[in-house]
Amino acid sequence: MDPAYWPDPDRFDPERFLDAEGNVIDKPESFLPFSGGRRVCIGEKLARMELFLFFSTLLQSFTFKAPEGAPPTDGVVGITWGPHPFKLCAIRR
Ligand code: HEM
Repeated sequence: MDPAYWPDPDRFDPERFLDAEGNVIDKPESFLPFSGGRRVCIGEKLARMELFLFFSTLLQSFTFKAPEGAPPTDGVVGITWGPHPFKLCAIRR
């Protein structure tokens, strides 16, 4: 969330992970969801494969939309930064 590394950190912007040519920046040095060094997550490879299968299957099958008039969701700090409870419409493609 440090704006020195992530401009406009509160904005949802998946394109921040792409370079100028549209290629995925594989490991931005200021993004460490699996930590680093001696305590780095040993499940990272498995987790990345599972996340890819899980989300690509969902996004192939459904279009996700906020319900009409729903307020924008905000984050809440816990063990990780997550959303407050929210409603979502999953529309079959
Ligand atoms: C999205 C999924 C995951 C995330 C974000 C994640 C994140 C992390 C992070 C940040 C740490 C370091 C904790 C620390 O600093 O002590 C860690 C450690 C660890 N993770 Fe994961 N993890 C994920 C999935 C998995 C999976 C699927 C496995 C096993 C199949 C796994 C096994 C472990 C183990 C055993 C450690 C301890 C490593 C050590 O201290 O030597 N994780 N994980």
